[in-house]
Amino acid sequence: MTLLLGDTVPDFTANTTTGPISFHDWIGNDWAFFFSHPADFTPVCTTEMGRTSQLSDEFTKRGVKPIGLSTDTVEEHLNWTEDVNDTQNTTLRFPIVADPDFQIAKLFEMIHPGESETAAVRSVFIIDPDKKLRLSMTYPMSVGRNFDEILRVIDALQTGDAHGVALPADWRPGDRAIIPPSLSDEGAKAKFPQGFDTIRPYLRTVEIDLVK
Ligand code: BEZ
Repeated sequence: MTLLLGDTVPDFTANTTTGPISFHDWIGNDWAFFFSHPADFTPVCTTEMGRTSQLSDEFTKRGVKPIGLSTDTVEEHLNWTEDVNDTQNTTLRFPIVADPDFQIAKLFEMIHPGESETAAVRSVFIIDPDKKLRLSMTYPMSVGRNFDEILRVIDALQTGDAHGVALPADWRPGDRAIIPPSLSDEGAKAKFPQGFDTIRPYLRTVEIDLVK
């Protein structure tokens, strides 16, 4: 089953470094940043786990819970976490899912046999409180993720939801947003009394308040 944007993500139960979880219940009314990595005790993964932990206040501000996964055991994850904390100068508190038999990695199509038959690639799933998949990205094993982009896209999704707008290339919080073409000029005038610019009939921009 290919997981598509807008789909309800599969639910699962698993052991994690913070205890057993039932995934949908664990997400609750928050957003989730679910990300896989190839293996414990590997260098790129160590920096990514450290970066996620260092950014925990940024995730919390946005109502997002991080949760990692690799095809290793809880015991291995916990031992490795000590290395992550030591080398990345952090205290990792978010759960890491144990998936030694690849059940969850297969459910979420994190195993790409052209890369590895037994280790997950670097998948990113941003999931909203309705458990819908809002963004997915897949990075190769040899390249660590860009966490600025992960936070940016969460800001963009939450801003889009709050204001009914779309966000242009390289949008950053504070930049002008785009009024979707599905909204008529009359509808846009009612929705955005602050006014908007019409660059082309299909390209209208508006200043919006920040969500956070
Ligand atoms: C790493 O995390 O460093 C890594 C893992 C698997 C393959 C290559 C690099």
